[in-house]
Amino acid sequence: MAEVKEPTHGTVPPLKVVIRVLAPYARPHLWVLVLALFVTLAGSVAALLMPQVLRQLIDGPITTGDRGALLPATLVVLGLGLFEAAMVFVRRLMVLNTSTRIEYKARMALFSHLVDLPAAFHDRWPSGQLLTRVTQDLNLVRRWLAFGLIMLINDISMIIIGVILMAGTNWILALVFLAGSLPLVFLMVRFEEQYRKLTRRAQDQSGDVATVVEESVKGIRILKAFGRASEALERFGGEAEKLRDLEVERGQADARIFRWLVLIPNVVIAVCLALAIWFASFGWVSLGGVVAFFATATILRMPLQFLGYLISFSLDSLSATSRFKEVMDSPVTVADPETPVAPAQGGRGARLEFRNVKFKFDDQGPGEAPLLSGLDLDVAPGERMALVGLTGSGKSTLINLAARFYDVTAGCILIDGVDVRDLTRDQLRSQLSVAFEEPTLFSASVRDNVLLGNPDADDDVLAEALQVSASEFVESMADGVDTVIGEEGQSLSGGQRQRLALARAIASQPRLMLLDDPLSALDVHTESRVTAELDRALGQTTALIVAHRPSTVALAHRVALLDRGQVVAVGTHHELLATNERYRYVISSFETEKDAA
Ligand SMILES: Nc1ncnc2c1ncn2[C@@H]1O[C@H](COP(=O)(O)OP(=O)(O)OP(=O)(O)O)[C@@H](O)[C@H]1O
Ligand SMILES: [Mg+2]
Repeated sequence: MAEVKEPTHGTVPPLKVVIRVLAPYARPHLWVLVLALFVTLAGSVAALLMPQVLRQLIDGPITTGDRGALLPATLVVLGLGLFEAAMVFVRRLMVLNTSTRIEYKARMALFSHLVDLPAAFHDRWPSGQLLTRVTQDLNLVRRWLAFGLIMLINDISMIIIGVILMAGTNWILALVFLAGSLPLVFLMVRFEEQYRKLTRRAQDQSGDVATVVEESVKGIRILKAFGRASEALERFGGEAEKLRDLEVERGQADARIFRWLVLIPNVVIAVCLALAIWFASFGWVSLGGVVAFFATATILRMPLQFLGYLISFSLDSLSATSRFKEVMDSPVTVADPETPVAPAQGGRGARLEFRNVKFKFDDQGPGEAPLLSGLDLDVAPGERMALVGLTGSGKSTLINLAARFYDVTAGCILIDGVDVRDLTRDQLRSQLSVAFEEPTLFSASVRDNVLLGNPDADDDVLAEALQVSASEFVESMADGVDTVIGEEGQSLSGGQRQRLALARAIASQPRLMLLDDPLSALDVHTESRVTAELDRALGQTTALIVAHRPSTVALAHRVALLDRGQVVAVGTHHELLATNERYRYVISSFETEKDAA
């Protein structure tokens, strides 16, 4: 099994790797990008032709005093100027639509992969790292494809064409210009090496900053309650400062190269000017030629100076693409089987079997004992089995394994005799539903939240689910079942959230229900109402219910006791009470809790 890796602080990959990564999204739009490049080049060539017209004008009509030629020449200059402006406009128009589409496709692919990735991946990757990859990094790549890459090719082409045109005027001057600019190449190579190291670190750091913000905002109540807001600020400040330092380092590297990119062409132009005047005194170069040479050199100053920025932009983008690639390359370890087995067409309730199940989390050390070490359990169709064990004994993990959020390390879990790994995840989800102690709600209406697993269900199903879970509080909400509950249902009480999560599990009308202590936040009276309703509503549905209270245990036909990685006893509550010392010990901890309540 491929292992889930943690986010790495990687390096900037070579261009060919990046091209391979972006190709699937960019390929259908490649022709637009190539066309945009040609449009840009056409505009640049028009700009470079202007000095040539000027040269003809000075050496021709201006020297000879031919007024008749002035108008056509002026019109040509004007035409070239207008053409250049039009090309810039057309390029922008072309790339906007295309690059945003590429960005959208890559973003969709990334998100779809994210939701496909196993729970083990999300256990390890900080949310801020994912957030910045989905938003900031892909945005950067889009701007690079639309602008940076095209301008980089355009600027290099412009410098080459410009130097050729200069050579047409006077090859010695062109050679001096070229030789004078050579140190820039050396400086740029050195800059690239330095910048390469900085850019990835800065992007990773920006992900760490986002993680701190996310965690603090999510835990804002706890931070406030424990008066820890200032510590959170301090921690954030630490991360933000690291980011700032990296940005400063990046900026300094930029500034160092920029200084040379401005200075060197200016010095070279000054040297060429002295030479040109000297050459002109011998008549080796015409007046028009001198003007054209300097006009061209002045035009070339811009792409030369811009080159430093474009190189850093490209490196930023290569690095951002590699961050995208890392997530995309993370394997979907809990994947659909190649040849799925059709789920058995059983009755209302499914049979659930755990056979010699062993399980170890990826981040458990090799020396650590597995959490589950050969666990066997058989839940018959229509049976309700309570799962009891001390805290940390692995009850939630068992539920997670049955729902295939993780895969077993050894052994197997069968639903109606079919290994859960032989079902597609859709097939599996259609068989079962889950409700956790920590309910998860989305910023959507109550209806959408409850019918999440069964979106086509009618209002009767919704009403029944709400009734069973004693969620009558919904009626008094502003828009009833259409009330939109805030982000993560924060506007609801813990017990209300739990009841809606339970309603969701009921509404999907599964054959197997996995309930992880779903009533823990309810008061005793509401709990007994829900328990009675649930008893009726579950009917023939098979259920595995993690129980921390005697009243929840009472809902079950039999109880399984989980201890030291195994199911050590199965029986009715009364049988186990009478025969099992360990069970009495575990149950006595419930009683204490109840007394305290
Ligand atoms: N994602 C994870 N990665 C690594 N270890 C984990 C992970 N989730 C749980 N564990 C460990 O596995 C053990 C069992 O956890 P689990 O949540 O299954 O216990 P539980 O029986 O449900 O406890 P409780 O009654 O407190 O809910 C714990 O020691 C926990 O630290
Ligand atoms: Mg638990």
